Formats: sequence, structure tokens, C-alpha cells
Amino acid sequence: MNPQLQTRLSACAERVDQALKQALSNRPSQSSALQAAMDYSLFNGGKRLRPLLVYSVCEALGADLVAADPAAMAVELIHTYSLVHDDLPAMDDDDLRRGRPTCHKAYDEATAILVGDALQSLAFEVLTEAAPETVGPLVQTLAQAGGHRGMVAGQMLDLQAEGQSISLTDLQALHELKTGALIRAAVRMGGLVAQANASTLACLDEYATCVGLAFQVQDDLLDVTGDAQVLGKKTGADAALHKATYPALLGLSGAQQKAQALVHQAQQSLQSLPGDWQLLALLADWCVSRDH
Ligand code: IPE
Ligand code: IPE
Ligand code: MG
Ligand code: MG
Ligand code: MG
Repeated sequence: MNPQLQTRLSACAERVDQALKQALSNRPSQSSALQAAMDYSLFNGGKRLRPLLVYSVCEALGADLVAADPAAMAVELIHTYSLVHDDLPAMDDDDLRRGRPTCHKAYDEATAILVGDALQSLAFEVLTEAAPETVGPLVQTLAQAGGHRGMVAGQMLDLQAEGQSISLTDLQALHELKTGALIRAAVRMGGLVAQANASTLACLDEYATCVGLAFQVQDDLLDVTGDAQVLGKKTGADAALHKATYPALLGLSGAQQKAQALVHQAQQSLQSLPGDWQLLALLADWCVSRDH
């Protein structure tokens, strides 16, 4: 990974982890069992890509990172909840996540369902601590991206597509929802925190749409070519479940080419923006060169 990006990624991960720990310790649960399972699912070496996007956009637009903490926490909470539920037996039935037993394996299914529920509510609670003039648009953005017009719709389409042959157009729509929606929301929330104007938000949205799709294409590729040890999750899981994926539809090199083309398009969309977008350009590259 590019050293500048590596440094930023570590700093952002540390920053959001600190904020999340503080937010949780300010709000102890009445159930210590639930609290333990939430901690187990949250603090376990996630890459924190979505918080990095929030912070990086905010910083490129000249805003203070403190103002971005609620949005960075909120999007990571929704993302983590989506992973806990994604791994459940009724969904992808995975045993390993972020290098450890999945939440329902370490605890039990009911606990994993409740962890997801709790993380989702907590996301919106922490988001209300953003600057008052930004709370409405932030909540609206995250609620739409995380719900039945975003990630949850994508997850439904993903399950329905198991064992089916679907078109490339339908696969793109599915990926843009299940993974792209939260990545787009992260970028938009960074812009909203910094009170970016509509044309800046539109350029950023084009960037985020490409990065979001590229990120899931790489996730599909890593399921075929990755090392489970490095990934911290099982490989070959998509083929075993007959999932609709880019490598399944386009082959490995076709999927790799698609990912590269998306990175190029993402980087192009940053060019009309004033300011220093170097980090976001590097980040787009990393989304498709990462090994985990
Ligand atoms: C995995 O997301 C699931 C997808 C949406 C592709 P990440 O690869 O960002 O997972 P963590 O947060 O680093 O574990
Ligand atoms: C996950 O897609 C998307 C969400 C969790 C919303 P995958 O099912 O491909 O993610 P992994 O491969 O299990 O991390
Ligand atoms: Mg899934
Ligand atoms: Mg999965
Ligand atoms: Mg996957």
C-alpha cells in the first residue's frame, strides 16, 4: 500500500475506534452480554474504509475532523451491523469474519441478530451529535443508503440471485446497492459535514459510485484469488453459494479490467474539483489492489 495512504488509514482507524469506544462507554447497555458481543463485532481489525472516506473528503474540503467523528462512527456502525447479519446462517452462513469466529459462532444467532439491531440504532444516536445544521441531511443520507433503497435492498437482491443467471446490468445494480450505497453515503457525509456545495457533492458522488462498485468487484475477486488467512474470511464462499459475482460473469481478467476501468473513472471525476484530492485518488487504486 502507498505509505501516505497507509499512514492515513491507520490514523483514521485509530481515530474512529477511539470515538466509538468513547460513545459506547458513555452509553453502557443494560445487558452486559449484548455489550460484549457488540464490542466483539466492532473492535476486531476492520479496515475502516468508510470512516477513512468520511474523514478524507472532509479534510480535502478544509473542514475540521472533529466535526466528522459522528458521521465516521455512524457509517462504520451500519457497515458492521451489515456484516454481522450478512454472516448469519440465513444469509451467507459464514464462520469467519475479520480473522475471528463470526458473531453468531462466538455467541449465538439470537445474539448476532440483536447486535445488528443495536448497532443500527446506535449509528443514528451518535449521528445526532453532528453539527445541528447538518444532522438532517446526514440522517437522511445514511438512512436511505442503509435501508430498503440501499444496502438492505442489495442484500435482498443478492440472496434472490443465488443460483440464478443474471445480466451484467442487474449484477451492477445489485453491487451498487449492497456495497456501493454505504460507500457513496460515506463520501457524501464527508461532503455534508464540510458543507460542500451541490456541484462538489455531484462530482464526489460520481467518484464514490465508481469506488463502491470497484470495491465489491475486488471483494468478489478476492473470494476467488485471495488468501483466507490474510482476508480474515473464508474464500470460495461465493462459488459454494452460487452467488452472482463479477468473476462468475466476466471471468477473472474481465473482472480485473472492469475494476481498473472504474478506478480510472473515479480518478477522472476528482479532476474538476479544486483542492488536493491525491489521497482519494490513491484510495481508489487501493480498493482494487488490496489483498484484504
Ligand atoms: C466487506 O467489507 C463486505 C463488503 C461490503 C464488500 P470490508 O472489506 O470493508 O470489511 P471490513 O470492514 O474491512 O471487515
Ligand atoms: C457483503 O457482501 C455486503 C454487505 C455486508 C452489505 P459479501 O457477502 O460479498 O461480503 P463478504 O464477502 O461476506 O465480506
Ligand atoms: Mg453477502
Ligand atoms: Mg458475505
Ligand atoms: Mg464477498
